[in-house]
Amino acid sequence: MTFKDNFLWGASTSAYQVEGAWEEDGKEASVQDIRPPFEGTTDFKIASDHYYHYKEDVALFKELGLKAYRFSIAWTRIMPHGKVNPKGIQFYNDLIDELIANDIEPIPTVFHFDLPASLHEKGGWLNRETIDAFTEYCQVLFDNFGDRVTYWQTINEQNMLVFASRVLEGNKTSWKDTFQGNHHMLVAQARAMKLYHEGNYPGKIGPAPNISCVYPKTERPEDMLAAEYFSAFRNWLFLDAAVFGTYNHMAWRILEKLDAVPEITAEDRQVMKENTADFIAFNYYNSSTVSASDGKESAAKDQQDSFAIPGFFKGEKNEHLQTTTFANWPIDPVGLRNTAHQIYSRYRLPLIITENGLGQRDELTADGKIHDDYRIDYLRSHIEQMQQAIEEGVELFGYCPWSAIDLISTHEGFRKRYGFVYVDRSDFDLKELKRYKKDSFYWYNKVIRTGGQDLK
Ligand code: BG6
Repeated sequence: MTFKDNFLWGASTSAYQVEGAWEEDGKEASVQDIRPPFEGTTDFKIASDHYYHYKEDVALFKELGLKAYRFSIAWTRIMPHGKVNPKGIQFYNDLIDELIANDIEPIPTVFHFDLPASLHEKGGWLNRETIDAFTEYCQVLFDNFGDRVTYWQTINEQNMLVFASRVLEGNKTSWKDTFQGNHHMLVAQARAMKLYHEGNYPGKIGPAPNISCVYPKTERPEDMLAAEYFSAFRNWLFLDAAVFGTYNHMAWRILEKLDAVPEITAEDRQVMKENTADFIAFNYYNSSTVSASDGKESAAKDQQDSFAIPGFFKGEKNEHLQTTTFANWPIDPVGLRNTAHQIYSRYRLPLIITENGLGQRDELTADGKIHDDYRIDYLRSHIEQMQQAIEEGVELFGYCPWSAIDLISTHEGFRKRYGFVYVDRSDFDLKELKRYKKDSFYWYNKVIRTGGQDLK
């Protein structure tokens, strides 16, 4: 059997995309609540109303057969305006207990794109004080939930938060400020890992970036160099910092050329060097392809796509790959295997895939069915490659596709669905938010029941 008995077959969500209850029980607004929604898409106020449906949802996760549920904790519920909120603690205590009572391993992310608005207004991550606020918040999490959590993820897709902050947070900052803010996040993460390790909590802690292998457009040596540069900038900058406690030298070169080298104190260097990750969680949706730069820059389009840095690389279409309907992301299951090998070769740490999935419009039929064979095909092809990666020696202990239930996409609304469970609402009509099991629900249940043996 490729997949061990304790392999964590799971599924994923994030707080602001699924919970709703955006200002209830003492919650503060997050940066996601205060930015205007993208044209034609809903806001995050109700989302899938998971805050009020969590018991029903966990019962569905149990029926689905999940061994793990990867979710995020809303900083804005736990520490609105910097003060501990007992009702926020209560919600996640209840959720974690409910999961455990159903034999589902809770895998929380500390921070998933939803910075408290009060911190955002004071400069967000560009303000060094946000490091302290994050550390205090982490201490509260570890103290309250640390006894029942084995795997903590620090920051979801810090790399995408940096490269797509215009999309994800509505920020328009210079490269210089972007990478100063990024540096503060890296220090905050290292301080969280320090707290966790020094507190002798019973589990492990690691980062959760979005990692994708990068192909050179052609066999030209210059294209290979461009691929290495893009990979260093997009991937290794973030993982080298989390695992080695240092900046990647090629990424650093790009920062120098962009005039974006951050200010780093001796204390920052020390805390990063001494406090590193126990495992790596990574999200994978697509691969990237680049060629050598011709000096003409094109702007970043969304959080998955490649872009250009003059003098280093520019994004290219990969003619060998189909693309998704939404946003034209390349679909590349073998790329998942390539990516897993690259990460494991570099870092030799246990890996878990914390996001992977297909966003599509789904149709609810009159008899309450959703025939999402396209999603099954996508997941099957990725699981097959994941299986091969494990057989080839990668230490991979779990797979949590995005998403456990339908939720709101980062910027393409509710109509872009990823879930195993259909939530009956549209962008502008909440209906009754009733849950329906999609065909992929029954298929994934079979995959889990057979320990990945039956992928048909
Ligand atoms: C990842 C994020 O970037 O991809 C999720 O961690 C996000 O929050 C997911 O929802 C899919 O992207 P999108 O833009 O389709 O929602």
